Amino acid sequence: MSKRVLTTESGAPVADNQNSATAGVGGPLLLQDQHLLEKLARFNRERIPERVVHARGSGAYGHFEVTDDVTGFTYADFLNTVGKRTEVFLRFSTVADSLGGADAVRDPRGFAVKFYTEEGNYDLVGNNTPVFFIKDPLKFPDFIHSQKRDPFTGKQEPDNVWDFWAHSPEATHQVTWLMGDRGIPASYRHMNGYGSHTYQWTNAEGEAFFVKYHFKTNQGIRSLSAEQAQEIAGTDPNSHQTDLLQAIERGVRPSWTLYVQIMPAAEAAEYRFNPFDLTKVWPHTDYPLQRVGRLVLDRNPDNVFAEVEQAAFSPNNFVPGIGPSPDKMLQGRLFAYADAHRYRLGVNHTQLAVNAPRATVVSNYGRDGLMASPAQGRAAKNYEPNSYDGPAETGRPLSAPLAVTGHTGTHEAPPHTKDDHFFQAGELYRLMSAEERSRLVANIAGGLSQVSRDDVIEKNLTHFHAADPEYGTRVEEAVRALRED
Ligand code: HEM
Repeated sequence: MSKRVLTTESGAPVADNQNSATAGVGGPLLLQDQHLLEKLARFNRERIPERVVHARGSGAYGHFEVTDDVTGFTYADFLNTVGKRTEVFLRFSTVADSLGGADAVRDPRGFAVKFYTEEGNYDLVGNNTPVFFIKDPLKFPDFIHSQKRDPFTGKQEPDNVWDFWAHSPEATHQVTWLMGDRGIPASYRHMNGYGSHTYQWTNAEGEAFFVKYHFKTNQGIRSLSAEQAQEIAGTDPNSHQTDLLQAIERGVRPSWTLYVQIMPAAEAAEYRFNPFDLTKVWPHTDYPLQRVGRLVLDRNPDNVFAEVEQAAFSPNNFVPGIGPSPDKMLQGRLFAYADAHRYRLGVNHTQLAVNAPRATVVSNYGRDGLMASPAQGRAAKNYEPNSYDGPAETGRPLSAPLAVTGHTGTHEAPPHTKDDHFFQAGELYRLMSAEERSRLVANIAGGLSQVSRDDVIEKNLTHFHAADPEYGTRVEEAVRALRED
């Protein structure tokens, strides 16, 4: 069989891919060498802005299959029949480091799922933690600045990390989670995923429910100790990527079982925690887990850049029957992601193969912009209303309307009876075994003892004391011991 011919980007055959064209033997290069110019120019443009957070990640395709009837709670089409399958793409990530960072680090992990449903793409952009550090989106840029590289020193600074937490008592729950055993997953396969926020489901009768999503790993939870992680991060910085890629290539099908906690909307106002506070969980004794289905990954992307780097997930991509709750953090995210995508990938990022709907067709009046494909071309009108039978609205609300009261203003969330910053952090501490508590204390002390200012250390200690007196005392003693060393 004859070899395929190497071509330029416009498809013309390339005569020589070893020697660039010169003026005579040993002379300078010729500007007319299109193949050389094109190759160098393309190379210069290979990188796009990396994600401002969650820059480093891995992705895979698979499907979601409904195993249990949830039609009493949502009319979402992809959840309406037991046995129904929907194609998915899942991108896992670390959060704080840049694109070249190591995988085996203490950091939350992203767990972003795109469901390619017949009513459009549904993006559930969660983490491997059921809670988060803050509860108002205004604080997010400051929080991330404190956790990423310092603009002067160019490296992550314990001073910044702990200074922000010293001023953010609401972070105590998530800090306890992160410094505990689950803070460094052994791989992306061996961790749970959570929607973390409260979302809204609406059923066919128009009744509203608040839900929290839990993807439980069927591989079992496996984590690394701080020492194991340090070694792996040094020897195979791509350890999570290697694990996921190779497992799927070997024919392993990693899977997660999806459960939801469901709260009838009318119960939200009187619940003892603010149900829209992202720093809190709903105890399972209040709202038990109800099984929904199974998510399975079975195919690696063909090209990491095209499908993983260019993947765009937005918490604002809902489908009918599912909508946002009034969680302020979630509301902030509804803006932030698509804005990031327009900056990072351009206005037509939804036309890229990984982001485009697969089970339905886009029909609207948006046109043009950088890199537009002619998907909706020919005689289709680009304005509405029109007399040419163009696509029309359904008139059916996507989710139930929620009642609001009061005046506009920069309000704190309404207080509920158990709404303090520390109660659930203490509960988490008291759930841990003696060995887990010791490792938690050692991990916190290892970071906190590196802080240069005593007042910042003191402020953080008050949070652990407030969560649980034993917790606070043990962290305080461990920090003192390390600082006296
Ligand atoms: C107000 C708070 C937040 C803001 C403003 C924010 C903003 C962002 C931005 C701008 C990106 C990069 C998007 C891109 O370039 O594609 C991102 C990525 C991400 N965020 Fe957030 N974020 C917030 C909170 C959260 C929370 C609470 C979670 C989890 C529950 C989360 C999970 C993720 C994940 C998983 C990604 C990576 C998505 C991917 O794989 O492409 N974020 N965030």
